Amino acid sequence: MSHPTYELKGAVHETPKTAKRIEFDEFGPSSVLKYVEVEVPQPKEGEVLVKNYAIGVNFIDTYQRSGLYRVAKLPKSGLGTEAAGVIQVVGSGVSEFEPGSRVCYYRSSLGAYAEYHIVPASALVKIPDDIDYDIAAASILKGLTVHYLLRQIVKVKKGDIGLFTAGAGGVGLIAMQWARHLGAKLIATASSHQKCELAKKYGAWQTINTSEEDTAQRVLEITEGKKVPVVFDSIGKDTWQSSLKCLSRRGLLISYGNASGPVTDANVGDLAANGSLFLTRPTLWDYSDDVPGMADELFSLIRSGAIKIEINQRYDLKDAKAAHDGLASRNTTGATVLYPEEFSPRQF
Ligand SMILES: NC(=O)c1ccc[n+]([C@@H]2O[C@H](COP(=O)([O-])OP(=O)(O)OC[C@H]3O[C@@H](n4cnc5c(N)ncnc54)[C@H](OP(=O)(O)O)[C@@H]3O)[C@@H](O)[C@H]2O)c1
Repeated sequence: MSHPTYELKGAVHETPKTAKRIEFDEFGPSSVLKYVEVEVPQPKEGEVLVKNYAIGVNFIDTYQRSGLYRVAKLPKSGLGTEAAGVIQVVGSGVSEFEPGSRVCYYRSSLGAYAEYHIVPASALVKIPDDIDYDIAAASILKGLTVHYLLRQIVKVKKGDIGLFTAGAGGVGLIAMQWARHLGAKLIATASSHQKCELAKKYGAWQTINTSEEDTAQRVLEITEGKKVPVVFDSIGKDTWQSSLKCLSRRGLLISYGNASGPVTDANVGDLAANGSLFLTRPTLWDYSDDVPGMADELFSLIRSGAIKIEINQRYDLKDAKAAHDGLASRNTTGATVLYPEEFSPRQF
């Protein structure tokens, strides 16, 4: 089995007094991340203490670490918002979960890079018994992002065409498969031949190798001059102009990430100059009105095999710095997951 299930029902053991987590005390490069021992907190009203089995690494974590997004309350902060595990302790007023419940989450306060983390009960998603912890940790944030991109902002249907940047990444590989399932045709960009091949294997209709090809020119060729009605752009600064050029008249640019840096010098006139375009800069948080329904849809596609979650980078929790360096290097594909020592990735 490629993704072992540690246990189907969560076992609750005695809560230790201290546990490990990743912290940082200044914004900066990955070297600011420290693996430290801290007291295990107790949940307050409406909260639970989760023992994390697997922790999702997302590009947004690098923005929060570097200070591009100044969410962290310094002088000391944890990092990460996505993980899966077992509820260890339930705070007062929490009735829908109990110790031992298998849960995942993607919108906790910063600090999911930890053996134990306090999470509001309202932010928890139940993990179905047949979904492994690491698959949940690798997919809940990225998969729900794809849900809102393909099922909420654009209600993608059979035959629809779009351009999707970073098609071999964590969000990208899920998007390729979900779009294929819906019968849509995504043109994926990726920065190497190998990444393009992977995106294609996972459902991309066409690929563009950005190290060798001009994206706007290739989109013109592929679409025989028609261009595309929607661009899903997670690269930001470096692709802003080319994404505008790829859009057909009255097309929609969904600028939902900043992997190359934020778009800061956008000119609203460019939307007119490129054909009365529409622009949105969305976040998952504003498309999380029905999380249980979105998660059900994601997990049933995983269960059916329509979407396979590729965890291509696995690290010990203590090696979070290496995980961040990997993401920044552009050498990763699919998802990256951290494991507390007890669930070391060496067992995979
Ligand atoms: N707004 C939202 O709600 C939301 C939610 C989740 C994720 N996101 C965004 O979605 C994107 C994908 O997230 P992910 O966690 O799945 O990451 P990822 O796609 O696995 O990794 C980022 C990819 O971006 C590409 N990239 C292009 N220029 C880059 C640069 N200068 N530095 C590093 N990477 C660069 C690389 O692919 P190539 O080398 O193939 O180009 C890289 O592999 C991120 O931009 C993230 O912020 C947004």
